[in-house]
Amino acid sequence: MQSSATTSRGAAVAVSGLSKAFPSGDGGTITAVDHADLDIAPGGVVALTGPSGSGKSTLLHLIGAIDVPDAGAITVAGTEITASGRRALARYRRTVGFVFQRFHLLSALTARDNVIAPLLPYGKRGAGLERATELLAAVGLAGREDALPSQLSGGQQQRVAIARALVGEPGLLLADEPTGNLDSATGTEIIELLLTLNADFGTTMVIATHDPGIAARCDRTVLLRDGVITRVE
Ligand SMILES: Nc1ncnc2c1ncn2[C@@H]1O[C@H](COP(=O)(O)OP(=O)(O)OP(=O)(O)O)[C@@H](O)[C@H]1O
Ligand SMILES: [Mg+2]
Repeated sequence: MQSSATTSRGAAVAVSGLSKAFPSGDGGTITAVDHADLDIAPGGVVALTGPSGSGKSTLLHLIGAIDVPDAGAITVAGTEITASGRRALARYRRTVGFVFQRFHLLSALTARDNVIAPLLPYGKRGAGLERATELLAAVGLAGREDALPSQLSGGQQQRVAIARALVGEPGLLLADEPTGNLDSATGTEIIELLLTLNADFGTTMVIATHDPGIAARCDRTVLLRDGVITRVE
């Protein structure tokens, strides 16, 4: 972590003509993302806003390659992921960190082991231990490494989830309503933390949020309506 703390490692993101439809259940389709175009510079922080059902989560899932678009292109850090095969996509997903509204921590594991968990399939527990300790300190949880999720507040659990999302040193962090389960003061703290981590590590961030105050703290706000990007400011 020491060297990366001072160097920007953010990924550039370019989305063009991106569309995704789902079956609506009544034989029709719902266009969740409709010809979306979006460019994010390395190290940028973009808020995705818009009413419920406007396509924020779908757009995040497409950018993170956990869902596949019907049309359009996504290029991240120079690689067109929409033209990548399965193995390249699996590699790509390891360069993306995800933070969710529900923290999704493993309840039987300590904070430290939750942070290390993404590295375990690659046999990197040893290196992960040190990195997890550094990251838990970076998110304000020094001394709480051995706590179980049930012993932590909601805000502290989200801090662990953010440390876990960063353990693979991602160029891109995608956060889907990361403050949605928190009271507004704690939510503000979590956004401050993400912005500090962005300044320290240069990680590009896309944050879906309903909170206009949080959106205002980001570099840019993208407004979605019925899957269409109607405004970027
Ligand atoms: N797997 C799916 N199957 C069918 N429809 C889906 C699926 N995922 C999303 N949709 C539909 O796509 C549209 C966009 O949903 P999405 O979850 O992206 O919205 P959102 O902006 O994240 O909403 P919220 O603010 O409530 O989280 C909605 O109409 C939703 O019902
Ligand atoms: Mg959503």
